[in-house]
Amino acid sequence: MQSKDLLQLAEQFGSPLYVYDAEKIKSQYERLTKAFSKVEKLRINYAMKALSNVAILQLLRDLGSCLDAVSIQEVQLGLHAGYSPDQIFFTPNGVSLEEIEEVHALGVQINIDNLSILEQFGTKHPTVPVCIRINPHVMAGGNENISVGHIDSKFGISVHQLPHLVRIVENTNMNIAGIHMHTGSDILDIEVFLYAAEILFDAARNFKNLEFLDFGSGFKVPYKKDDIETDIEELGKKLSKRFNAFCAEYGKDLTLIFEPGKFLVSEAGFFLAKVNVVKQTTSTVFAGIDSGFNHLIRPMFYGSSHHIENISNPKGKERFYSVVGYICETDTFASNRRIQEIAEGDILCFRNAGAYCYSMSSNYNSRYKPAEVLWINGEGHLIRAHETFEDLLRNQISLPASVAKQ
Ligand SMILES: Cc1ncc(COP(=O)(O)O)c(C=O)c1O
Repeated sequence: MQSKDLLQLAEQFGSPLYVYDAEKIKSQYERLTKAFSKVEKLRINYAMKALSNVAILQLLRDLGSCLDAVSIQEVQLGLHAGYSPDQIFFTPNGVSLEEIEEVHALGVQINIDNLSILEQFGTKHPTVPVCIRINPHVMAGGNENISVGHIDSKFGISVHQLPHLVRIVENTNMNIAGIHMHTGSDILDIEVFLYAAEILFDAARNFKNLEFLDFGSGFKVPYKKDDIETDIEELGKKLSKRFNAFCAEYGKDLTLIFEPGKFLVSEAGFFLAKVNVVKQTTSTVFAGIDSGFNHLIRPMFYGSSHHIENISNPKGKERFYSVVGYICETDTFASNRRIQEIAEGDILCFRNAGAYCYSMSSNYNSRYKPAEVLWINGEGHLIRAHETFEDLLRNQISLPASVAKQ
């Protein structure tokens, strides 16, 4: 997508605005499947928590993707978007047995990540094929909030608890169809994936009726020009070879599953915001935009660094700016960042705004959430309208006058 197209979309749909490039999603999907083309049975479960707009789900479904859902509401959204139950995988963390039962009743594959629920579910449904999430105790990920496979993490069943796990499976006679792990996000080093894969293979040797192994995700994507990223092609070559060798040893062609979020949608997303005010202080020049951490929380939450460009003045001379939001707390998107000279009214474009951006947005400060547009075949299609005052009031109930007066 070009800056002039983004600028035109900001004019057409207003700001702030999320824009997603369908072509980039498609090319990332194809890149991943090509990297693992030597694996007989490959399945991609898009981690829909990254970006769950129904139009995006439909786009990925048409490319051949399945879904990774972490709440019953995500499962319902997936079904609404046209996925069949067997195309959806439920990999929640810390949810109730009731929610797991409800999802199972919809015909969706469930993944269990603790021994307590495993024992209860297995006792009730010994014949239902279940996947289990292993915690491989690998410290990996770009930030502690997205490192989820280490020993202090709440995710998964420790590999050291395998003897207990196997005992539960034998006692309940339950059916373990798959093993899953996910060590974190933003993992650059492919050796981490290969090392964790060996732990998964070791765990898999304890179960005789497996159908699949799910390696989770965590691929690091580039955040600016010439940035480093996980070498998917190299990982594809090395992991496919190890996976195929494991299948030969196991005596069955298992399905290899990945559940990428960021890899598929991060780079496809652009967040456009207008500069409300340029404010020179004694220490910096602030560019204050018509947004804040209510719309894009990642820089404040994880310290993620989104490349920012002034698409209203693409050829402008670069100056240093601190880009901040309008929220009544410090919400700094970038400090001392070189950006083309900014004037009030200019549109700034934040890159890598596809994953965990809109999906983490809120109505904090009683602001509306932005609209979303999908750029497809050279045209922008509105896929979520800008909110209105009615949206803010929806589900709010005023007190009856008799109670309010007491
Ligand atoms: C279980 C699980 N799978 C997949 C993902 C997607 O990870 P990423 O966006 O890094 O691809 C996540 C992210 O939080 C996750 O928790």
